[in-house]
Amino acid sequence: MEKWWKKSVVYQVYPKSFMDSDGDGTGDLKGIISKLSYLEDLGIDVIWLSPVFASPMDDNGYDISDYLSINPLFGSLEDMTHLITEAEKHNIRIILDLVLNHTSDEHPWFIEGRKSKDSPTHDYYVWAKEPNPLISVFSGSAWEFSPETNEYYLHLFSKKMPDLNWKNERLRQDLYTMMNQWLDLGIAGFRFDVIEYIGKEPQAMVTANGTQLHPYIKEMNKATFGKRNTLTVGECWNVDFAAAKQYSDPDGSEFSMIFQFDHMKIDWDDQLGKWKPKPLDFVGLKKSLSHWQNEMMGCGWNSLFWNNHDMPRIISRWDDDLTHPVEAAKLFATISYFMQGTPFLYQGEELGMSNARYTFLDQYTDVETLNAYQDLVVTRKLMTEQEFMGSAMRFGRDNVRSPMQWNDKKNAGFTTGTPWLPLCANYQTVNAESQIHDKESVFSFYKQLIAIRKHSAYSDLIEQGTYTLLEPDHPQLFAYERRFKNKGLLVLANYGTVPLHHQIDQKIVKTILSTRPQKIESSVDLMPYEALVLEIEI
Ligand code: GLC
Repeated sequence: MEKWWKKSVVYQVYPKSFMDSDGDGTGDLKGIISKLSYLEDLGIDVIWLSPVFASPMDDNGYDISDYLSINPLFGSLEDMTHLITEAEKHNIRIILDLVLNHTSDEHPWFIEGRKSKDSPTHDYYVWAKEPNPLISVFSGSAWEFSPETNEYYLHLFSKKMPDLNWKNERLRQDLYTMMNQWLDLGIAGFRFDVIEYIGKEPQAMVTANGTQLHPYIKEMNKATFGKRNTLTVGECWNVDFAAAKQYSDPDGSEFSMIFQFDHMKIDWDDQLGKWKPKPLDFVGLKKSLSHWQNEMMGCGWNSLFWNNHDMPRIISRWDDDLTHPVEAAKLFATISYFMQGTPFLYQGEELGMSNARYTFLDQYTDVETLNAYQDLVVTRKLMTEQEFMGSAMRFGRDNVRSPMQWNDKKNAGFTTGTPWLPLCANYQTVNAESQIHDKESVFSFYKQLIAIRKHSAYSDLIEQGTYTLLEPDHPQLFAYERRFKNKGLLVLANYGTVPLHHQIDQKIVKTILSTRPQKIESSVDLMPYEALVLEIEI
């Protein structure tokens, strides 16, 4: 089957915050349809749509109460089919975000299942007579008491998100039937939320990477998307190279690719994770990304990303005071767009949007942040409120979920009503309208990068070429070479606030991409956050 996704660029839409068509302050499917021309102009091929299924929205849709209907907040099933057909006219495919590890506690399976041990869907969930010490990703015990049957149910995320029991064959078949229904409607694939947990053995304290994980994925592949020409990507927080190769084996028996997070966890504390970040180890970051490039070459496939709805904006994270927001946006994009893999960009990244930086706890709505505050500050007193709020501004997920900045008018053109989350203060300067026709803008830069990946003399090289990290221990320079057949390219990026003089040993053929006009001969002065891509003789 043609692996079309190797040359594709995927754009993540977080529907609540993308575009509101009816003035209720929340984005919706009709809003997305109205922006398809914008996305086509940018050059993306695929939309990854964060969940739009029926949901009580305890975790903004990652708590699904009916996989086959659309949350009225976002529209109807008719709007969804309309989105699929309209997107097709713009050469854009849609992939859905499927949460198969858990449902909402308001899913009929759970409502019925919790009533009695004899209920047909009781065994669709994971029960225990007594809780063991398993901890939820969203803080506190992963077990919740359910009085009807005098048992505890497992929830690796919020209490309102009970974990599904994949050992139950009927459950698996029900999920596969549902997936096929979506594929029949014209969906081009799926992003699989926290898929690494489906093989869990909670009694043995095993959550990720249980022994049945890969057999289940292979079974699901055969029963559903494996026979179709799809893009599939699994979200995996705990994965080594061997498992990643298995997940994205070129034989097509599992997924097209996975999201792994080594480079995203690089500044996390061993105990308190993102709530107590360390300074960025830039050399470690280069090594991590490069290691993944080399390991997956020829036997797996990487996804390339810096941001998503869980990962607040990289330019705010690693240039905290936003000293060079435009340059930093271009620098991070350049570093990843010339690597091997499929790029995923998160809405607003193409504009250089920054984190909203909500300062007060009552501005936060996200269950993860609120639970973490309760746990770390109130219950366990491991951090002060001030320390926690500092991290929340950087890592609290609401910060990357602020509404899309379409223009400099009221509510940045996102809604005529009251936005569900306050806008980021900089929308009058950072917005789509002001960037689309500006050749120097972050938007134009992304457009250029996407075009180079997809339709240029370098497309095959970017897809297939070898990768070599240069000057691995340099604390400020990210430099790498790619080579394929008779072509080579050299990427140079100065992650630093001072200029950097760099001697170029390779013979330059021409400049492929630069962020400022300059003549490059045997050496170059890279300005703060400047990135440059050259074709070299090999
Ligand atoms: C994934 C999603 C995240 C969600 C969690 C539970 O990590 O990306 O947003 O909260 O799974 O479904």
